[in-house]
Amino acid sequence: MAKNIVLIGMMGCGKTTVGGLLARRLGRELVDTDALIEQRQGRSIPDIFAQEGEAHFRALELELCRGSSGQDGLIIACGGGLPLQDEAIAALKENGVVFWLDRDPGETYDALDVSGRPLAQAGREDFVRRYQDRAPIYRRWADYIIPCGDGPQAVEQLISTIYREVSKP
Ligand code: S3P
Repeated sequence: MAKNIVLIGMMGCGKTTVGGLLARRLGRELVDTDALIEQRQGRSIPDIFAQEGEAHFRALELELCRGSSGQDGLIIACGGGLPLQDEAIAALKENGVVFWLDRDPGETYDALDVSGRPLAQAGREDFVRRYQDRAPIYRRWADYIIPCGDGPQAVEQLISTIYREVSKP
């Protein structure tokens, strides 16, 4: 069976949107790590952060990644901070091809719905700094770095690029 397609990148870079479109085009199932954690916990991510803190949320991400071994053929859209834990992203990379959707952080922030995103509450500068801190980590794990723009045309281009890469014999 085909390796998983693992999408990483900052909050709001389009992982879930692109993942959904790719899933449809490739006839594969989309797993969104945030949505799966919310579903398993029966609580929203802001509630998990507020009640137990970020460290607990990261532990849930790690648990999910550890449990994903042996699964293939999926599109996995990762929460933006998932690659910060080596063990979590390494578990996904074992059976997946990793794509970093690299979008300009200022542009991303300006278009971002910050509600429901506890780590996007401290403003634009903080968001850009967070991107700069994370960029080397995303780069380290990425098999492919896909520069992303804004708008439907850019999304279409992005999907075609990923589609081409994963369809290579
Ligand atoms: C986070 C990104 C969020 C979610 C959580 C933490 C982060 O996912 O996992 O709020 O650390 O960047 P999205 O990237 O889907 O917004």
